[in-house]
Amino acid sequence: MGAAAALDRSAWGGLASRPMQKLTVPALRARKGQGPKLAMLTAYDATMARLLDEGGADILLVGDSLGMVVQGLPTTLPVTVEEICYHGRAVARGARRAHLVGDMPFMSFQLSSEAALASAGKMMKEGSFEAVKLEGGVAVAEHIARIVAAGIPVMGHVGLTPQSVHAMGGFRVQGKTDDAASRVMMDAKAVAEAGAYAVVLEGLPATLAQRITDSVDIPTIGIGAGPGCDGQVLVCYDFLGMFRELAPKFVKRYAELGDAVVAATQRYVEEVRTGAFPAPEHCFTSARSKAEAASAAPAGASSGGYGPTEDG
Ligand code: KIV
Repeated sequence: MGAAAALDRSAWGGLASRPMQKLTVPALRARKGQGPKLAMLTAYDATMARLLDEGGADILLVGDSLGMVVQGLPTTLPVTVEEICYHGRAVARGARRAHLVGDMPFMSFQLSSEAALASAGKMMKEGSFEAVKLEGGVAVAEHIARIVAAGIPVMGHVGLTPQSVHAMGGFRVQGKTDDAASRVMMDAKAVAEAGAYAVVLEGLPATLAQRITDSVDIPTIGIGAGPGCDGQVLVCYDFLGMFRELAPKFVKRYAELGDAVVAATQRYVEEVRTGAFPAPEHCFTSARSKAEAASAAPAGASSGGYGPTEDG
């Protein structure tokens, strides 16, 4: 089966059949400087996307962070375009209003502008995305320009770029010295000049992120970059308190769902072992036992809320 035939178009049908207005690239750009600030979160599946969309998230990113928080890998490097597309189709089915961005994985865009355009095109066709994001500044500006020229919106990502984890010697805050700060500033400007419609600023001193925000005419979306950005992004499992292996300083937990999941699992395990679950209200009845119960019951009594009768 060819790539086009394999394309799951149900996401598009889903969006078309739902009237809620989608946030567009021009609408997001227009919020630069005038607000409200952009609230972006990552999502990897339809159920989470539906909840985050209902909560009012403006942008949902299928980040290559899925390598770490979904696949359990130590870095984002092994993630593939196919995996990002698979999760993109799922997220698109859940997102009614939020703008949907797909992260370009390591080595899907670095080789050449042609390779970058081919990967971005594949992600738009097979991942149901409305834009792509890629890491890097001056070094990838030409690739960004090429993708943008083909009509594909690009979000940049500068500062701490997790795909360069080995070159950086770990997930380290960038731009701390004057020289390093000027390089990050040049990266952000290069991304904006190449035609990106927004740029993620990751792991930067708050003062530098503020200066970059004041220097580029596209929205900046910060993660570990302080309050001066035009928006913020967090990984959904981080802000919900579900990914507990790492606890970066910049993460604020808005819920402790990790604790809630463990507690719920402990109750479930206990009830399965004691036989408290399933209770009668969780059981189906056959037509025969329902009729027997009805004939045994006093006239006018109901047979109780035991759910639907089994077929056959
Ligand atoms: O991969 C990702 O989730 C990201 C965001 C944290 C910006 O790049």
